[in-house]
Amino acid sequence: MDALWRIIYTSQCARHWHVAEFGELEAFSVRRNAEREVTGLLLFDGAGFVQALEGPEAMVRLTLERIGQDRRHHHLIVAVDEGTVARQFGTWAMRCRQMPELAPSEDGSTALMHDLAGVTDGRTRAIFLDFARLSVQRARRLGARKAALTLEERAMQTHLDLLVQQAQEALDRNQAVRRLADDAARLDSATRRQFRLNS
Ligand SMILES: Cc1cc2nc3c(=O)[nH]c(=O)nc-3n(C[C@H](O)[C@H](O)[C@H](O)COP(=O)(O)O)c2cc1C
Repeated sequence: MDALWRIIYTSQCARHWHVAEFGELEAFSVRRNAEREVTGLLLFDGAGFVQALEGPEAMVRLTLERIGQDRRHHHLIVAVDEGTVARQFGTWAMRCRQMPELAPSEDGSTALMHDLAGVTDGRTRAIFLDFARLSVQRARRLGARKAALTLEERAMQTHLDLLVQQAQEALDRNQAVRRLADDAARLDSATRRQFRLNS
């Protein structure tokens, strides 16, 4: 019988991934891995992945080979490639989680903490927790950049408002001047008429 094996890798998205696509990948992987007795955990944070694959060595290697040929991601780096005596991820053919998680569960812990509850191998835990931590940092950076952009947009909007106001004032002044000029011209011709009548 094949030795029980564990491989953990990280990779980067080669293009934009829709959340729905990640859902489809989960459904596919659960089905395919169940046939191969492969179990594990996959995290996705919009920029990259970390995945643990466990099972009979030949099946784990075959699955990794197929995953490595998938052009939807790249820069695959294998962090763990070793024999093991026990599975760390129970019976999930593939549990998939999107990072950072939107909300902690009722007891305040995150879904990932629940997923890692049975994981006793320190290095495996550390790799997943590290990925989750970096995902949160990345989301914060993106959030800050978005806020900065909004500020910039707001400044530009204020500037535009000011320009529109100045243009409107110039137009009003123009009309007032034109009205004054018309009045002056009317007064002028009335005066001339009056002058002609009187002389
Ligand atoms: C990040 C990532 C993780 C994946 N995980 C699995 C997996 O656990 N099991 C699996 O069968 N396919 C997985 N896939 C899909 C494979 O790359 C590939 O599309 C699939 O195995 C199709 O293989 P086939 O050519 O044998 O049909 C994953 C793909 C990506 C991008």
